[in-house]
Amino acid sequence: MPIPESFLEELNARTDIVDLISGYVSLTKKGNRYWGLCPFHSEKTPSFSVAPDKQMYYCFGCHKGGGAIQFVMETESVSFPEAVAILAQRAGLPMPETQGQGDNRKKRERLYQLNKAAARWYHQNLLSPQARVAQEYFTRRGLSKRTITNFGLGYSFNQWDGLIKAMSEQGYEKQELLDAGLVVKNEKGHIYDRFRGRVMFPIIDLRGNVIGFGGRVLDDSTPKYLNSPDTIIYNKSKNLFALNLAKKSKRGMIILTEGYMDTIALHQAGFDCAVASLGTSLTPDHARMIAQRTQEVVISYDSDAAGVNAAQRAIQLLNKTGIRVRVLKVTGAKDPDEFIKKYGAAAFQKLIDGSENHVEFRLLQVKNKYDLSEDDQRVACIQELAQVIARLPGAAEREVYGTRMAKELEITPDTMLREVQRCQKRQLRWEEKQQARKVLQPVQMNQPENRALRYENMRSGKAEEGIIALLLNDPGLLANTKGLSPEDFSVPLFGRVYQMIWERWSEERPVSLNVLGPELTGEEMNHLASILQNPLSQTNRERAMEDYINIIQTERLKGGNQAGVDDAALMAYRDKKGMEEPT
Ligand code: GTP
Ligand code: MN
Repeated sequence: MPIPESFLEELNARTDIVDLISGYVSLTKKGNRYWGLCPFHSEKTPSFSVAPDKQMYYCFGCHKGGGAIQFVMETESVSFPEAVAILAQRAGLPMPETQGQGDNRKKRERLYQLNKAAARWYHQNLLSPQARVAQEYFTRRGLSKRTITNFGLGYSFNQWDGLIKAMSEQGYEKQELLDAGLVVKNEKGHIYDRFRGRVMFPIIDLRGNVIGFGGRVLDDSTPKYLNSPDTIIYNKSKNLFALNLAKKSKRGMIILTEGYMDTIALHQAGFDCAVASLGTSLTPDHARMIAQRTQEVVISYDSDAAGVNAAQRAIQLLNKTGIRVRVLKVTGAKDPDEFIKKYGAAAFQKLIDGSENHVEFRLLQVKNKYDLSEDDQRVACIQELAQVIARLPGAAEREVYGTRMAKELEITPDTMLREVQRCQKRQLRWEEKQQARKVLQPVQMNQPENRALRYENMRSGKAEEGIIALLLNDPGLLANTKGLSPEDFSVPLFGRVYQMIWERWSEERPVSLNVLGPELTGEEMNHLASILQNPLSQTNRERAMEDYINIIQTERLKGGNQAGVDDAALMAYRDKKGMEEPT
C-alpha cells in the first residue's frame, strides 16, 4: 500500500534538506547553493551541492541526486518506506499507517523480537553445562569468553524441537518461527528446528536487530555452515556480518573477509573493522554499504583459487565506488583466521601495511594464468601484462611496473616499455572514439545500458530534457504544450514523467521531483536531478517550450514512428484511465 501523497508533501515541507544533509556532510554556502564533499564517492574538492530553493542535492562528480527521501535511502541503505519513516520521526510526524503497512510493520517488529529471543536462548545454551562440546569447540578455535559475549555466540542442542518449545513458551506462534526461518516444515507438515547441534552466529543489522543466524557443525559433517534463509527482515545480499561493530571502528578502513570465523578472529586480535559477506559473493549493495562508511577497503579472502577469484570480482565492484581498494595476500595459511592463530596480530598488521594495491594483484593474476616455461605463453603473458600496465594513469607507475615485469619475465625493460606504448596507442584510439560518442551523450550515466534512459535521438532527447526541466519548475507551462503527447517523447522516462506531471496538474495535485519519487527508480531520480541542474532561461520560457516541441516533432517525423514509449503499454495505460487516443 502506498504512503499517501499528502503525507509525503507534508513531510517534504517539514524537512529542511540543508539541515538534514548537514548531519552527514559538512556544507559551506556559496551563492545560493551549499557545497561539500560528496558522501557517495571519494573526492578531495567538493562537487556535491545542495540547493535549498529546490530542496534537492546533486553531485557534479558522480551524478547522484534527488530529494530528502532519496538522500536517506542512499546514505542509510534503506527502502523508500523506511526512509520516509526515518524522516517522519525526525520531523516529529506520526506515520500514517494504512492497514496493510501497519500489519507489516508489526510483523517485522515481532520477527526482530523473536530473533532476539532465539539469540538469547542459543547463547544461554552455550553457557550451560550440557554444552561442554560447544564450549570446547570455541576454546579449541581460540575464542575468548569476551569474544563469545561480544558476538553473542550460541549453541543449538541436537534436538528437533528445542527452539520450538522455548519460543512457544515465550508466546511465539509456529507461523512466526517459520517466517523467521528458524524452523523448517517437512512434506508431512511437521515442523522442526532448522539449527541442531551447531554453534550459532547471530547476524545483526546496522540498527542492532538480530535478523538471522549462521550455524556451524562441530565436526567435519556437511553442510559445514547453515544460514537463515532470506526473510522479510533478512536479505543476505544487503547485510554484512559484523558491520554493526565495524562501523564504530577508528581504524579508517574496512577489512573484508569471506567467513564468520575470519571476521571474529580478526576482531579478537584487535582488527575491529573486519566484516564478512554471508556465504555469498560480494554484491553491488555490499560494495555501496562499504563505500558509504570508509575510504579504504582491504580485501582479505582465503588464499585458495576460489578466494582469489572472489577477490577479483570484489575488486571490480569496489573499484566502481571510487574508494581505495587493496588486496591482502595471506601466505602460509589458508585464511585470515588461521594466519592470526599461527603468526599473531602483529604479523597480520604487517600484511595490511604491505598489502598489494590492486595493480600488483592484477599483474600477479595475469602471470599466474600462463606457463612461463613455454615461449609462446611467455609472449602472450608479456602482451597481457603490457595491456594492464598501459592503463595505469601515471608515467612513473608505468615505468616502475613495466621494469619490474620485464625483469621477472627476463626481457629488457626497453622491450617491455615499447610493448606498453603500443598498447597505450591502441587504447588511446579506442578512447578517442568513445569520447566522440560521449560528447554527444547528454549526461554521464552510471549505467547507460539502462534502456529507459538511453537517448536514441540526441537532438530530441536534449529537447525533452528541456521540457521536463521547465515543467518541473513551473507546471503552469503545460498550457503551452498543447499537441504534445507522452508518446512523442523518444526517451521513455521523459514520456512517463510528462504523463505524470500532466495528470497531477490536471487533478490540481502538486508537481515536483520529490512527490514523483515513489514512482521512479533511484537511477531515474539521479538522471532527472542532473537535468534540473542545467540553468533555466529566466525569460521567454514559453518561447523555449515552443522550440523544444518543434524539435521533438521534427525529429519524430524524420525518424518515422520511433515512439520511445512502448505503444502497447501506453494503450493499456489509457484503457485503465479511461482515456481516449489523442487525435
Ligand atoms: P571455518 O571452517 O569454521 O574456519 O569456516 P570459514 O569461515 O573458514 O569457512 P569457509 O572458508 O569454508 O567458508 C566461508 C564462508 O562461506 C563461511 O563463513 C560461510 O558463511 C560460508 N559457507 C561455508 N560453508 C558453507 C556451507 O556448507 N553452506 C553454506 N550455506 N555456506 C557455507
Ligand atoms: Mn576458516
